[in-house]
Amino acid sequence: MRVAMIGTGYVGLVSGACFADFGHDVVCIDKDAGKIARLKQGEIPIFEPGLDALVERNVREGRLSFSVDAADAVRNADAVFIAVGTPSRRGDGYADLSYVHAAAEEIAGLMDGFTVIVTKSTVPVGTGDEIEDIVRKASPNADFAVVSNPEFLREGAAIEDFKRPDRVVVGTDDERAKAVMNELYRPLFLNETPIVFTGRRTSELIKYAANAFLALKITFINEIADLCEAVGADVQQVARGIGLDKRIGNKFLNAGPGYGGSCFPKDTLALVRTAQDAKAPLRLIETTVEINDVRKKAMAGRVADVLEGDLTGKVIGVLGLTFKPNTDDMRDAPSLDIVPALQAMGATVQAYDPEGHEARQMLPGVAFKAGPYEAVEGADAVVIITEWDQFRALDLDRMKTLMKSPNVVDLRNIYRPDDMRARGFRYSSIGRG
Ligand code: UDX
Repeated sequence: MRVAMIGTGYVGLVSGACFADFGHDVVCIDKDAGKIARLKQGEIPIFEPGLDALVERNVREGRLSFSVDAADAVRNADAVFIAVGTPSRRGDGYADLSYVHAAAEEIAGLMDGFTVIVTKSTVPVGTGDEIEDIVRKASPNADFAVVSNPEFLREGAAIEDFKRPDRVVVGTDDERAKAVMNELYRPLFLNETPIVFTGRRTSELIKYAANAFLALKITFINEIADLCEAVGADVQQVARGIGLDKRIGNKFLNAGPGYGGSCFPKDTLALVRTAQDAKAPLRLIETTVEINDVRKKAMAGRVADVLEGDLTGKVIGVLGLTFKPNTDDMRDAPSLDIVPALQAMGATVQAYDPEGHEARQMLPGVAFKAGPYEAVEGADAVVIITEWDQFRALDLDRMKTLMKSPNVVDLRNIYRPDDMRARGFRYSSIGRG
């Protein structure tokens, strides 16, 4: 199959490279000429484990290429994927669809022969209908079908998620489009991945419902963690005790500082807006959004608590800034709430993150250090915000010697309270009362 991928951001690049690896001919297109030039030279703009090797191999074997010009790729394509950004619209939380609409207009003028237009971008219910209208208006005689095919990729594990997904969701009633989509995902038939065919609106909603449910699950365990602290229970054991019930499942029950990232915060908000507009409000998700926002802001208070409530003139060492490990993504990272709150309470912050380079622009006043030991040196307290593997295996004795006072606030529960206390740390974590 010949595939044109419009948008070479996170989703487009990973999906394009993986489709090429399935054996399809893929052209990844982006308006950003600098980005395309760098990709042509083998430079990957994002940090995603395994992606550089995957891109390199498929380019070398002639199945993957990059272009600023959509014309040839779209004209030849069996399927054109729209994988452009749908950020939160400033101020109101609705998804900004301007890039999606622009992509639809562009595709309309270029298609030749039956073409399947597939939305990979996360788009509100009804966007497929809008795309169909735009294309029909611009190109009344075009032969095409618009399909919804949401992505469920986790950053840091995106290639694995693409190649071994729990399911693939395809929203269309068009039989020719179904055949094209089946062919595109055929390599997954080998491991019997369920392909769920639904109506287009249902497929669009599945994506939001999945993310909202996961955000709700995390928020649930975060609240249980607070209760554990109040009553002297252990949230990790509660999570295990409930997670072994197959109806609940053990995933996404790690209590922490609140969820962040490029999807959960914006998608929960967009779903809340869709539901309000449809006069079917989702009060559970509205509350989830609110609890999570408050939680992220409240985390700095935990650091203040270990220092008797006063951070004036104190030095805080921060380990981890990205919204989760194995990504360089800073979008809606809890650190963006926690660090400024620490500074507002009078603390000086020094930080280290292996990949979160963008933090330098986003967190003014922070001293960025070259490694974890430099970040803890002279600190009155250390806060672990992101659970990078390298922070799980720190030389704790060395760390203690370097710190001014041995206070550790572990917002990801990567250490054991009894062990940390035995080593002479004053240690606080999440939900282990
Ligand atoms: C998510 C969805 O998992 C994916 O299916 C979707 O397509 C895009 O959004 P991603 O944002 O990459 O993926 O990361 P994910 O691993 O889901 O984590 C999101 C946030 O939740 C992170 O801030 C993470 O730290 C937090 N989280 C996750 C928890 O606090 N506890 C958990 O148990 C799991």
